[in-house]
Amino acid sequence: MVDAIPSHTLNDGYSIPALGFGTYPLKGDECVTAVRAALDNGYRLIDSAVNYGNEVEVGEAIRGFIEDTGTPREDITVQTKLPGRHHETDAAVRSIEESFDKMQLGTLDVVLIHWPNPVTGKFREAWRGLIEARKRDYVRTIGVSNFTADHLTQIVDDSGVTPAINQIELHPYFNQEAMRAANADRGILTQSWSPLGKREAPYSEPAVVAAARSHGVTPAQVVLRWQVQLGNVPLPKSATPSRQVENLDVFGFELTGIEMGAINALTRADGRLFDGDPTTHEEM
Ligand SMILES: NC(=O)c1ccc[n+]([C@@H]2O[C@H](COP(=O)([O-])OP(=O)(O)OC[C@H]3O[C@@H](n4cnc5c(N)ncnc54)[C@H](OP(=O)(O)O)[C@@H]3O)[C@@H](O)[C@H]2O)c1
Repeated sequence: MVDAIPSHTLNDGYSIPALGFGTYPLKGDECVTAVRAALDNGYRLIDSAVNYGNEVEVGEAIRGFIEDTGTPREDITVQTKLPGRHHETDAAVRSIEESFDKMQLGTLDVVLIHWPNPVTGKFREAWRGLIEARKRDYVRTIGVSNFTADHLTQIVDDSGVTPAINQIELHPYFNQEAMRAANADRGILTQSWSPLGKREAPYSEPAVVAAARSHGVTPAQVVLRWQVQLGNVPLPKSATPSRQVENLDVFGFELTGIEMGAINALTRADGRLFDGDPTTHEEM
C-alpha cells in the first residue's frame, strides 16, 4: 500500500482523489479482478463508462471490496460516462438511471458526457439531462469529457451550470496547455485520459529518462508525477498489480521546474493518439 492520495476540491464542493484508475478496455472477470486489485492497492477513484460495457463489473468489484474491508462507500469515487446515442435530455436521464441500476452502489459519484458529438449537436440537451439526473439523486457530481472551450461556453450559457470536471486526452506528446487554462478559468478540474500516452508512452525520451534516474523512479512514475504537478487528475489503466502500485506511488517526490519544462517541451500539435479531435469526432 502506498501513501495516502491527496485530493482536489471540485467547484461543487465535493472532493476527489488526485489520481484514479482507468478501466477501459477491461471487461468480465479480468475487470472485476483488476478493479479489486486497484482498490486493494489504494486507488479510491475508478473511471468507467457506459460504452466500456463494464459498469456491472466495476460495481461488483467495489461492492466486494466494501463488504470485505468495511471501507465506507463514501471513501470511493466512481465515475461513468453518458454515450453519444443518449444525448436527448430524457434519454440522458434514463441512461444515468440505468448506470445507477447496473452499478448498485447507490448515488453515482460522477457522471460525465463522454464526447460532445458536435455534428449531432445535442450536447446542450445532454447536459440538461445530467442536471436533471443530479436533481433526482442518481448522481452527485456532473461534468464532461472531450469538451472544447467553445462547447463549455455553450452548455454554461444554456443552463447556467458549470461542469465540475472536463476529462480530456492529455499526455506529454499532447499537453493541452490551452485547454487546461480554459478549464481552470471556469474552475473546472482537468482529468487526463491516456495519461501515460498508452501505446506511444514517452518512456525512452531523454527528458523522462533523466528525471527517472535523478529521482530513482520509473519513467511511468515521472509522467504521472508531471501530470499531478500540472494539477491534472491522471487516470492510468493497468491490469498488472505491480504497475498499479507503481502508478499510484507518485506522491513522494517532486520534479524540478527544469524537469517539468523539458517534459512540457515534448508536446506536438499532432500529438493526439488517434484522430480524436472533439470538434469533429463523433462517438455513439
Ligand atoms: N474520456 C475518454 O474519451 C477516454 C478515452 C480513452 C481513455 N479514457 C480513460 O482513461 C484511462 C486510461 O487511458 P488508456 O488506458 O488509454 O491509457 P494509459 O493509461 O495511458 O495506458 C495504459 C497502457 O499502459 C500500460 N501501463 C500501465 N502502467 C504502466 C507502467 N507503469 N509501465 C508500463 N506500462 C504501463 C498498460 O498495460 P497493462 O494494463 O498491461 O499493465 C496499458 O497498456 C482508460 O482506461 C479510460 O478509463 C477515457
